[in-house]
Amino acid sequence: MREKYNNILNSRLAQNKSYIEKELKKILSDIAAPKPLKEVMLYAVLNGGKRIRPFIISEVSSLYQVRPSIYKYPCMAIEMAHCFSLIYDDLPCMDDDDLRRGKPSVHVKFDEANALLGGASLLTYAYNILASKNFSIEDKKKIALINIFSNAIGHKGMLAGQFLDLEAEKLSKKPTIKKFNNIQEKKTGLLLAFCCYAGGFIGNASKKELEVLYEFGLMLGRIFQITDDILDKEGNQKLLGKKVNKDDEQNKATLIKIKGLDFTKNELSKFSQQAKNKLLLLNKDTKVLSYVIDYLCSRTS
Ligand code: IPE
Ligand code: IPE
Ligand code: MG
Ligand code: MG
Ligand code: MG
Repeated sequence: MREKYNNILNSRLAQNKSYIEKELKKILSDIAAPKPLKEVMLYAVLNGGKRIRPFIISEVSSLYQVRPSIYKYPCMAIEMAHCFSLIYDDLPCMDDDDLRRGKPSVHVKFDEANALLGGASLLTYAYNILASKNFSIEDKKKIALINIFSNAIGHKGMLAGQFLDLEAEKLSKKPTIKKFNNIQEKKTGLLLAFCCYAGGFIGNASKKELEVLYEFGLMLGRIFQITDDILDKEGNQKLLGKKVNKDDEQNKATLIKIKGLDFTKNELSKFSQQAKNKLLLLNKDTKVLSYVIDYLCSRTS
């Protein structure tokens, strides 16, 4: 059973990764940026990565018969926004990490000014991609999607989460669970919720289905960040491609810090069951999405 899940999931993940990477390469090779800036952007996007966010968009879109020629646009936009978030996350003024995806972080490979400018250029380009006329969905829907994308990323989204994550480092007491939930939902959950919602939205899912997809995405976010925090403790730097044992050093607000590792692992299996139950509400063949939950809990990279 386990083997079957691995085979199906890994082959679909690999297939989507190669498709999206080809599209990302194509769209980035056309930009008219100064050559060194373009180099930063290409490095930040094409330096590896699991491409889990585009994969989730593609799987949800497929439930609603959306074609790759359409869903590739939100896939590319979310991956660029995610790569922007990683560049900034690694800066010395944030998590100060010099290793990302097994390679030097962007500010190490280039410099801080180029990291800031390359990151901001990627985020801006993500909006161009969503606004592109080749992304052939109704204009009204496109505008709505761009708004949802903005909310997931901006001052009430991922960037708010990153702000709160840094604020929480300064606490002398353990953060509350409520605080932890708020931070992880914003910094990680909202992008994953966008991925699930966007797939359904471009596929004309019903309001009820969109609600389920959004909530499912938030659950994936929680599972994703908790696993990331466990991997910081127990993961292998080589497989992860990033430094380990940093969260305690930086006094990060993690569930492990609040409740310990055993409790956190228990919560993870509880959340994973809850996410599987949520999927059933869609009344569709959500087998692959339920494999995504298992993958996110057991990943090593
Ligand atoms: C890392 O994201 C940042 C977090 C939200 C924890 P990923 O683990 O998806 O990073 P890549 O894209 O695979 O490198
Ligand atoms: C980062 O969380 C979330 C982002 C929005 C990038 P982490 O700081 O834990 O991510 P890693 O461990 O550096 O990838
Ligand atoms: Mg961080
Ligand atoms: Mg970090
Ligand atoms: Mg981490």
